Amino acid sequence: MSLDPSSFASAAKCVTRHLNLSLHVDFESRVIHGTVALTMEALEERFSSLTLDTRDLKIASVSANGQAASFTMGPKHSFKGTPLEITLPFDLSRGQHTIVEVTYQTSPTAPALQWLTPQQTAGKKLPYLFSQCQAHHCRSMLPCQDTPAIKHTYYAQVSVPKDLVAAMSALPDGQRVDPGDANRTIFRFRQNVAMPSYLIALVVGALESRQIGPRSRVWSEAEYVDRAAFEFSEVRPPPLAGSPPLAKRRSTLQTEVMLKTAEDLAGPYVWGHYDILVLPPSFPYGGMENPCLTFATPTLLAGDKSLSNVIAHEISHSWTGNLVTNETWEHFWLNEGHTVYLERMIGRRLEGEAFRQFKAMGGWKDLQDSVSTFGATNPLTKLIPSLRDVDPDDAFSSVPYEKGFALLYHLEELLGGPEVFMGFVKSYIQMFAYRSVTTEQWKDFLFTYFKDKVDVLNKVDWNAWMFSPGMPPLKPHYDTTLADACITLCQRWVQAGERDLSGFGASDVDELSSHQLVEFLSLLLQEEPLPLSHVKKMQEVYHLNACMNSEVRFRWLRLCVRSRWEEAVPAAFRMATEQGRMKFTRPLFRELFNFEKYREEAVRVFLNHRAAMHPVTSGLVAKDLKVSAEQ
Ligand code: BES
Ligand code: ZN
Repeated sequence: MSLDPSSFASAAKCVTRHLNLSLHVDFESRVIHGTVALTMEALEERFSSLTLDTRDLKIASVSANGQAASFTMGPKHSFKGTPLEITLPFDLSRGQHTIVEVTYQTSPTAPALQWLTPQQTAGKKLPYLFSQCQAHHCRSMLPCQDTPAIKHTYYAQVSVPKDLVAAMSALPDGQRVDPGDANRTIFRFRQNVAMPSYLIALVVGALESRQIGPRSRVWSEAEYVDRAAFEFSEVRPPPLAGSPPLAKRRSTLQTEVMLKTAEDLAGPYVWGHYDILVLPPSFPYGGMENPCLTFATPTLLAGDKSLSNVIAHEISHSWTGNLVTNETWEHFWLNEGHTVYLERMIGRRLEGEAFRQFKAMGGWKDLQDSVSTFGATNPLTKLIPSLRDVDPDDAFSSVPYEKGFALLYHLEELLGGPEVFMGFVKSYIQMFAYRSVTTEQWKDFLFTYFKDKVDVLNKVDWNAWMFSPGMPPLKPHYDTTLADACITLCQRWVQAGERDLSGFGASDVDELSSHQLVEFLSLLLQEEPLPLSHVKKMQEVYHLNACMNSEVRFRWLRLCVRSRWEEAVPAAFRMATEQGRMKFTRPLFRELFNFEKYREEAVRVFLNHRAAMHPVTSGLVAKDLKVSAEQ
């Protein structure tokens, strides 16, 4: 077992097997009052003390098997939080269990939680709360061994005001009136599959739900629920002029089709339900694979199902991440690299190999962008970075996703193609299901599985792939069938002089899918900024200002700001603030900050908006814009 540099809780002495949670959600004080009972198993003889992770928690009392236990709080660490040291009033021998119960309350500024005012919701009448625990924030919601090396089941009872609904990353287990307060409801949940703490998730709001498949519902505020149900399932997309014949093949139950495809690739889905929660716009990620209930950003609601790869991605985590889990955040690529690999295998089954190749090549480009943003010698561009003294939120980027994918895709090429390599991935999942793994264990298993091809494996420059910063030692091959049109159009714009602009017209993009439009804009963003005349012409012929697909709009607005088109600045500020997905909000703020004329405005807009932002997002944007915590 490797030590987890992001946690104070040692997994060597004892491990949590089960959590029993009672939470009382108080919107007035923005605090959760909680009791957590942890079933702990001793891994050593004469076991009598343990450390739990906490962050900004007030601890009221600790007991073990019902007897008071003494506890102290260690020194506070900037991102790891405060260790809670507990001394048991008795000893345990190896293998024995005890129930440690902690009564506590959270802080209104807990980084795992965002508390929204009614004004910040779609309905405008009731408040809203959601959690985001990955990577190391669960400790600000409850005291626990907050390391992905440890897995446990959980049961929860959550008391909320009676016009609100609670949901968790678990199966519902009924509800009742709170016996302590008739104006409140207690919702119960059970998660019977052992999982790491970062997958504990809670949402409280005026939620409604609709069935979208035999094991799936969508959840959201009433205002979004129809759009969400359409986006992730239901009727065929309306026939668009010139839409490719592939679109016609899309089934009526998209989420279920993706689940079945994933099961066919990776093995049975063990979590029971697969529901999707569409959050308010400040949700910081595209999607989060909370078991039984994926959390998703409303920016996926493109109206044409074109962003469903995010759902394919979160579904894939049901195997890679949630069943087979990275042992520490240094091995995060095991979670994300394999998940991107599976996501693209689902894409291959549903849209064809050319589509997978196209997305894989786009991923290589995203990796180039991350490497150039960090700098090619930055240690955070290593596949396996050291996280000693590094906040996992600061380390987050496309690198583990796309360097991880590139490695797997390279191995696929070397070892016999997608069918052969998928056999390995499925077997890896079976081998390590319900456990946590390191890269060493993954690699040992790879060598065992391909024992007849060890000579091929020995030719891989493992050290460079895993521990060198910058781009990988080798670029895999990609089929460019779907990318060619994007590359050609990008080059036409790059090479066009001011006088050549009349050659561009709406028909340039008529035949492009939204995926190709995204790729075209991404390619342009890798070039020197276009002259202002060019982006103005592009708007005139392609009408991109009117495009509401978030992936297209994000890149288009970046391009405009880079070309110093002042008319696009208000729209860029709007997109940066009206939604809070970090993938969009951080680069938009950075782009506006780099436009000298609007630098001060960028800082001002951020400061004005800060209080309404998600705590993690506002912390990272503050760093990006070099704004201090107090300012
Ligand atoms: N698990 C991640 C999100 C995450 C990672 C949250 C690390 C906190 C810390 C999720 O599965 C994810 O990767 N989401 C992507 C989806 C994309 C790669 C298709 C996103 O949010 O954009
Ligand atoms: Zn992921």
